[in-house]
Amino acid sequence: MHSLLLPLEQKSEVLSHNSGSLLLRMASQPLVDRLELKIIHGVPLIHYFANNFAEVERFQARPDDLLVSTYSKSGTTLLSEILEMLYHDGDTEKCGRDVIVKRVPFIDLAIPGEETGAQLAARTPSPRILKTHLPVQILPKSFWEKNCKIIYVARNAKDVAVSFFHFYLISKVHPEPGTWQEFLDKFMAGKVSYGSWYNHVTDWWEKAQKNPRILYMFYEDMLKDRRREIRKVATFLGKDLDDELLEKTVSHTSFKKMKANPMSNYDGVHPIIVDTSIGPFMRKGVTGDWKNYFTVAQNERFDEDYARQMSGSTLHFCTEA
Ligand code: A3P
Repeated sequence: MHSLLLPLEQKSEVLSHNSGSLLLRMASQPLVDRLELKIIHGVPLIHYFANNFAEVERFQARPDDLLVSTYSKSGTTLLSEILEMLYHDGDTEKCGRDVIVKRVPFIDLAIPGEETGAQLAARTPSPRILKTHLPVQILPKSFWEKNCKIIYVARNAKDVAVSFFHFYLISKVHPEPGTWQEFLDKFMAGKVSYGSWYNHVTDWWEKAQKNPRILYMFYEDMLKDRRREIRKVATFLGKDLDDELLEKTVSHTSFKKMKANPMSNYDGVHPIIVDTSIGPFMRKGVTGDWKNYFTVAQNERFDEDYARQMSGSTLHFCTEA
C-alpha cells in the first residue's frame, strides 16, 4: 500500500470507486480528525500513533539499522538528508528516489487505512536509516537488544516551540494548537505530542553519556558549521569521507536546496500528515526565530520555568545565531 503519497482527491476517488455509498460519503470528508492526544506509558502521543503503539513496541530492529531520534522539529529531516547522502556516496539521484518519509521510515507513524511506518520499515532493505520521536524510555526494546547506532539531535526549546506551533497548523493529525500563548503553555507543561521537551532532551542526554552507540548532536551546530558536524557523523558511522563527498553533502543539504527539493520539503507527502498548502514544512531554518514570537513577558516566564525544569542538567543550548 503506497497511498500515503496519493493526493487527497485521488484517494477519495479510489475509495469511492472500490466501495459503496458509505465510503463515498466518507471520502468527501477529512479521513482523519484532529483528535486529542492519547497517553501511552505516561507520554501523550498523536491519537492514531497511540492506537498503533503495540506494533511499534514489537518493532524488530536490525543490528545495522541507524536510528535518527529527535524531539519533533529539531532537525530530523536535515540529519536524515545528510545521512542519505553519506549512505549513497553523494549520489543525488539515489537520494531523490522518493520522498523523505519513504526513504527514512518513521517507525511511530500510523494513519488509519495507510501503511504504517513499521510496515514500511519491514519492507525496506538493509542498511536502513529509521526515524523516531519517542522518548528514550519507550523506544522499542529491540534497538537496545540489537545494539543499534543512534543519532539524537536536540534543538533549543524556544525555537522548537515556535516551529512546533506552526507544524501543528499544517499537520492535521495533531489537536488544534490554539493561540500561540495557549500552545506555549501546553509546550511548557509537556502537553504536546511526545510530551515534555525537557524530559526528552535530558533523558536522551543521560542515556548518551553511558552509551557510545549514541551520538548526541545539536541542530544549532549543524547550522553553524555543517562541515564539522557532517565529519562528526561520518566518523561515528565509520564512513570514509573525502572532500568531494563532504562538499556535495554540504551543498545538497542547505536550507535553500532542501526547501526547493520536493523529495525533502514534504510537498509530496499526504496532506493529512503535512499539508504544505497551509504553510511550508521548510519554514525558516534558523536559530533565534523565537524572538519574532515570544513577548517579553512570555520570555521571562519561559526562562524562569526553564531554569526550574532543567535544573540539575548539564545540557546547554544555544538560542542565538
Ligand atoms: P523551522 O520551522 O524553525 O523553520 P524536523 O525535520 O525535525 O521536523 O525539523 C524541522 C525544522 O528544521 C524546521 O524548522 C525546518 O525549517 C528546519 N530545517 C529543515 N531542513 C533544514 C536545513 N537544511 N537547514 C536548516 N534548517 C532546516
